[in-house]
Amino acid sequence: MTETRQITLEDYPAGMPAPEHFGHRTVDLPDPQDGEVLIRVLWMSVDPYMRGRMRPNVKSYIPPFQKGEPLDGGAVGQVIKSKDPKFAEGDFVVGFAGGWRDHHVGPASAYTKVDPNLAPLSAYLGVLGMPGLTAWVGLSQIIKPKEGEVLYVSGAAGAVGSLACQLGKHYGMTVMGSAGSAEKVEWLEKEAGVDKAFNYKEHDVVSLTKAISEIAPKGVDGYFENVGGMQLEAILNTVAFGGRMAFCGMISGYNNDKPEPGPSNLINIVGRGVMIQGFIVSNYMNLVPQFAAEVAPLLAAGKVKFEETIYEGLDKAPDAFIGLFRGENFGKAVVKIAEPA
Ligand SMILES: NC(=O)c1ccc[n+]([C@@H]2O[C@H](COP(=O)([O-])OP(=O)(O)OC[C@H]3O[C@@H](n4cnc5c(N)ncnc54)[C@H](OP(=O)(O)O)[C@@H]3O)[C@@H](O)[C@H]2O)c1
Repeated sequence: MTETRQITLEDYPAGMPAPEHFGHRTVDLPDPQDGEVLIRVLWMSVDPYMRGRMRPNVKSYIPPFQKGEPLDGGAVGQVIKSKDPKFAEGDFVVGFAGGWRDHHVGPASAYTKVDPNLAPLSAYLGVLGMPGLTAWVGLSQIIKPKEGEVLYVSGAAGAVGSLACQLGKHYGMTVMGSAGSAEKVEWLEKEAGVDKAFNYKEHDVVSLTKAISEIAPKGVDGYFENVGGMQLEAILNTVAFGGRMAFCGMISGYNNDKPEPGPSNLINIVGRGVMIQGFIVSNYMNLVPQFAAEVAPLLAAGKVKFEETIYEGLDKAPDAFIGLFRGENFGKAVVKIAEPA
């Protein structure tokens, strides 16, 4: 028997999530059966999509969390016991399950082996993991950049956005990005190589439209949408003929009880022949090898930079999650739960 501590969802938040919505409990785990592994969790991910799982009555691509039950999500761990030939004791693995706890028993099929010598283990939850794949899919499969085109990325200093910006530069685009602080704006321009970054908190639709038009007088060809709201309206004002928009997420509305009114200028997509496509990264898992083959060498060569905001200890997981909606994370938000054995 192995004990595990787990973070539970005690109540569904209305509006912004708060510490009182979370609890914790300790339970005994069964021994792994054939085809299963016991994992010691080393790192866990907090991601904006988890807020959507805290809405019990909304139809979604992923089921809601249950009140009083443990949360779940992406994790990197070390195999303690394996009842599957795919893994040996001591292997490092990443999977979509096993987060919000310090040990996990699950099917070996839910995990993939990772190499700790290629990148820090936490990077498999960020730039080399689900958010990295999301950035690559949105750009390479949906926006389909052409050299010399203009890209705008909202949420540009986050886990997804920071790689989307750098891939845009890699593909030869002029890149604009937005974030919510002067420090993030400076990082985007000085470290990530973004041509122009905006602090969206200093703009309204009119001033952002003007600022974008100054950089891109012929319009924005690619829009990587992470945020929604005012910025989407400014992009609809400035989108080029034949523009492509990858709708990845709209975090500005995730804590709203009532949906925001839509942008007043959607009609521009008609006259400008704009393509808008939403996507969920889990539908593109077959492209992981292509993603890894392209992004891992860029990372190894130092051509892609990434930041992490690290929260220490399982108890900090709710703070890490809440911080996503306050802009407290710089790059990928991760929780460090244990050191490798
Ligand atoms: N479609 C998919 O499969 C998929 C997969 C992964 C992620 N996503 C989506 O991609 C987006 C980014 O995810 P991520 O994991 O990379 O998160 P992240 O950007 O690392 O973290 C969230 C960031 O969002 C910004 N934010 C929070 N509330 C905001 C608001 N009201 N208005 C404007 N910005 C706000 C904050 O940055 P600032 O300081 O800049 O405000 C915060 O740091 C989210 O919309 C997420 O749902 C989609």
